[in-house]
Amino acid sequence: MGNKSFKLGILVSGRGSNLSAIMDSIDRKELNAEITLVLSNKKEAPALQKCRARGIPSLFLDPKSYGGKAEYDLALVKELRAKSVDLVCLAGYMKLLSDEFISSFRGKIINIHPSLLPSFPGLSAQKQALDYGVKFSGCTVHFVDEGIDTGPVIMQSVVPIYDADDEEKLSQRILEQEHSLYPKAIHTLVEGRIQLEGRRTIQKAENS
Ligand code: GRF
Repeated sequence: MGNKSFKLGILVSGRGSNLSAIMDSIDRKELNAEITLVLSNKKEAPALQKCRARGIPSLFLDPKSYGGKAEYDLALVKELRAKSVDLVCLAGYMKLLSDEFISSFRGKIINIHPSLLPSFPGLSAQKQALDYGVKFSGCTVHFVDEGIDTGPVIMQSVVPIYDADDEEKLSQRILEQEHSLYPKAIHTLVEGRIQLEGRRTIQKAENS
């Protein structure tokens, strides 16, 4: 990437533990990138407090102040463009993105989802996995397209499901994996080592 630093824009709605994991990874110099903007659709999101505590630029944009989803998303795009964002990372962003947003950053939006996609897309993925009775679940980092958790898979981590698990225990086990997988996937993208071939992503080896 030369001297130009790779700029991340992160969209959040809540807790922000994945955001913290990304910040930590940057601080440890495992991820050569800079968070130039964190945007939230929730005023009280703990993720925003985490930004303030660490001096990361962040902004709450109130969906109620805009005429609709398309207008709101265009405001997000404008803020992200103003900060020259190279990659948009969804980290617990609980609003669906409009087609306008997706086409503005085509191929440059990623998400982390707490299941092994294409199993259990959408809300409460951990509960869906428990209710279904699968013995393994995990998390997926994927490109975002117009569908719900349907874009090409970039990386996945697997965790076992035990008989004694409840939603909270499983969510915690998956979350630990999320916190190492997401920064790792972003790092690989920053290094330009992910190639999209149809629906498949091919990962090039380091220094190849
Ligand atoms: C994570 O489980 C993530 O997979 C999902 O939303 C949750 C966000 O958690 N998309 P946090 O805000 O990063 O703590």
